[in-house]
Amino acid sequence: MMFETERLILRSWNKGDAAELYKHAKDIEVGPPAGWPAHTSVENSKEIINTLFSAPEIYAVCLKEDNKPIGSVGLHRNDIAQRDDEYELGYWIGKAFWGQGLIPEASREMLRHAFEDLKIQRIWCGYYDGNTKSRRVMDKLGFEYHHTTEGIEVSLLGEIRTGHVMLMTKERWQKVQLFLKQKQTLDTFLNNGAISQAQYNKSFGDLQILMNMQKVK
Ligand SMILES: CC(C)(COP(=O)(O)OP(=O)(O)OC[C@H]1O[C@@H](n2cnc3c(N)ncnc32)[C@H](O)[C@@H]1OP(=O)(O)O)[C@@H](O)C(=O)NCCC(=O)NCCS
Repeated sequence: MMFETERLILRSWNKGDAAELYKHAKDIEVGPPAGWPAHTSVENSKEIINTLFSAPEIYAVCLKEDNKPIGSVGLHRNDIAQRDDEYELGYWIGKAFWGQGLIPEASREMLRHAFEDLKIQRIWCGYYDGNTKSRRVMDKLGFEYHHTTEGIEVSLLGEIRTGHVMLMTKERWQKVQLFLKQKQTLDTFLNNGAISQAQYNKSFGDLQILMNMQKVK
């Protein structure tokens, strides 16, 4: 399966991606914040592609211009998401590509896929204490805080951490879609001069508060 967004292609991982994967996943600022160790060699990356990345619903995040993988996004079943009608969303992207909103863009498509195509009811997303970058992605997507667990064993790293869990229900996701549609209408009004910047700011602020979407982007 393959998905296209404005700037990205989301596609299956294949063996030929190992060298590109290693380039990004050897960085200690990428895997460890998410709970997995930096890759140690191209061989190690190949093994990850053949095992973890061969699972269903795991996609390479590629720029449209060259279709090379720069990160990963996927829907997982695990301790947090055990039921047939729920998944956990997971993601990372190479450091050179941070800060361009690429993972929010890829994740929005994953949420659409989960709720519309797979008929999923709830998507969980977790981050370890201190990973403010990842929390920011969840806020932008519209996830809501659910609970915190202390003393989580991160076995791959031999560490004990605190984890925070966020939730997106299908109802909340539908509300986010409605909010984005209404924002788009306001953007059009502003761009064609139907409303002033001051009117836009007031209406947009009211909309954010009314729909509880202050952090959604
Ligand atoms: C978390 C992560 C996936 C975000 O992806 P992204 O595509 O950069 O997401 P965004 O562009 O929306 O940036 C999210 C936030 O990261 C922070 N950020 C962005 N670029 C940064 C940089 N170069 N250095 C430090 N922080 C940065 C900003 O706070 C940003 O929020 P803002 O847009 O409101 O300023 C990415 O940082 C990453 O892969 N981190 C390591 C792996 C990881 O933590 N995965 C998640 C596990 S739960």
